[in-house]
Amino acid sequence: MLIWLEQRTGLVTAIKDFLTEDVPGGASYWFVFGSATLFAMIVQIVTGIFLTFWYAPSASTAWESTKAIYNSPFQHFVLSIHYWGASAMIALVFLHMLQVLVWGAYKAPRELQWIVGVLLFIVTLVLGLTGYLLPWDMNAYFASQVAINISGTAPILGPFIQRLLQDGPVMGTLTINRFFGLHVWLMPAALVALVGLHLFIFRHNGPAGPAVEDPRPLRPGRFWPNQMFMDTVISFFVFIIILFLAIFAPPFLDQKADPTNVTFVPYPAWYFLALFGLLNIMPPSLELVGTIIIPTVVVLVLLALPWLDRSTLRTFGSRASILWGTTLVVITVVALSLYSQISIQRKQAAAAANPVPPAAAAAAAPATQSASAGAPAGAAAGAKVFSTNCSSCHGAAGAGVPGAFPPLAGNPVVTGDKTKVIRIVVNGLHGQISVKGSSYNGQMPAWKGNLSNSDIANVITFIRNSWGNKASAVTTADVAKIAK
Ligand code: HEC
Repeated sequence: MLIWLEQRTGLVTAIKDFLTEDVPGGASYWFVFGSATLFAMIVQIVTGIFLTFWYAPSASTAWESTKAIYNSPFQHFVLSIHYWGASAMIALVFLHMLQVLVWGAYKAPRELQWIVGVLLFIVTLVLGLTGYLLPWDMNAYFASQVAINISGTAPILGPFIQRLLQDGPVMGTLTINRFFGLHVWLMPAALVALVGLHLFIFRHNGPAGPAVEDPRPLRPGRFWPNQMFMDTVISFFVFIIILFLAIFAPPFLDQKADPTNVTFVPYPAWYFLALFGLLNIMPPSLELVGTIIIPTVVVLVLLALPWLDRSTLRTFGSRASILWGTTLVVITVVALSLYSQISIQRKQAAAAANPVPPAAAAAAAPATQSASAGAPAGAAAGAKVFSTNCSSCHGAAGAGVPGAFPPLAGNPVVTGDKTKVIRIVVNGLHGQISVKGSSYNGQMPAWKGNLSNSDIANVITFIRNSWGNKASAVTTADVAKIAK
């Protein structure tokens, strides 16, 4: 039977070759990170396929079908595994990369394998990001809104990426479909193809082995059975942890996304906390540095690493600068994540303690309330003014309507000189303007006479401090000077 199969397919030899591969230095628990990541990916694919049976991507069914999944114990269990599997996969990718960095395993002849690995890291993050939107609850909506707005700030490509992701003037069914397509087709296809390439190159070069003082002869070892056994033990262990978390800490579904809620404080997935933190500590004028420049530089440095660190030695002593650099980056990422975690919790607590019931917000003209801990006084009252007067054109989330109404989120005019913004809102604006690479030529109404000076002050304070914008507050006196 085996001979029959072998003659027709060569499969038996192929498997034998696969299993008898050399493992320099012998099998080791140090070599399991890659295979554990692969295992987590398989868990994600299997549970993900099940979820597509039950999930319906559209603005009127996404949340509803997710709710139905939550209501069925088995479906909820599968979803919980998928949820924790995602975290496990990202954590393992991270550990795997860290190990390769520390061991210098990216060095020649493994440069291409390293590059494919960095691409895999990015694809995994994109999968996390696109999956986050799908439940379409409050947090999914507003966290994704922040992500889309950030992508829109990128120079040149920004508006294009934003349009690609959002596909329409506001987030809705089209956005869900874009994210769904990316999450279940394009990114998994890219992931599987890149993993195949990664493993193919890996087989060609063999494992790098630990960074020992060469040329000490390494104890020869084989993949089968020892390494295979260790890989299986660790994958099983990873699976137990995922199951444990899925059972005892299942994810939670919030209320359905409500775009008119202007005070909701979104919480990103833990692996994006560091980026969120970076965005928060940057002054508005340096926003691009936090959102685009630093992440791009980090990726470029990672890609170029085999050429930046050219020494052929892999021992620790000879690579002090890389090791220190890696340590520093890890500490920074952890610190930024913690900072982000604390600041989001504070904002959420403040938003909960200070809800904006419509009547109270309207009465808050003296501007003593604040929308959230980070936002200046007046913003909460301004939120109400915004949703009744401005959101019909500029969108509830300040994203505007491409080609018709400019976005206010991430718009440097809005966060720039306050006198200029006051003039625009008081006197209106027409004529050609250019925002984030798109031009607009419409008519912004004059609000003098329609809104009180304090309403105008509050709404400007609000737009200067929402959707990721951060700028000084505007007072009634500031407006009075211009409105006369
Ligand atoms: C009827 C639709 C409409 C409404 C309502 C509206 N805007 Fe506008 N807004 C526009 C248009 C159109 C422009 C761009 C004008 C141009 O092309 O010159 C604009 C521009 C702006 C700008 C300048 C943006 C830039 O980059 O220069 C600000 C700030 C602004 N609006 C704030 C507000 C605020 C605050 C409100 C509510 C009080 C509001 N808008 C209500 C249509 C509207």
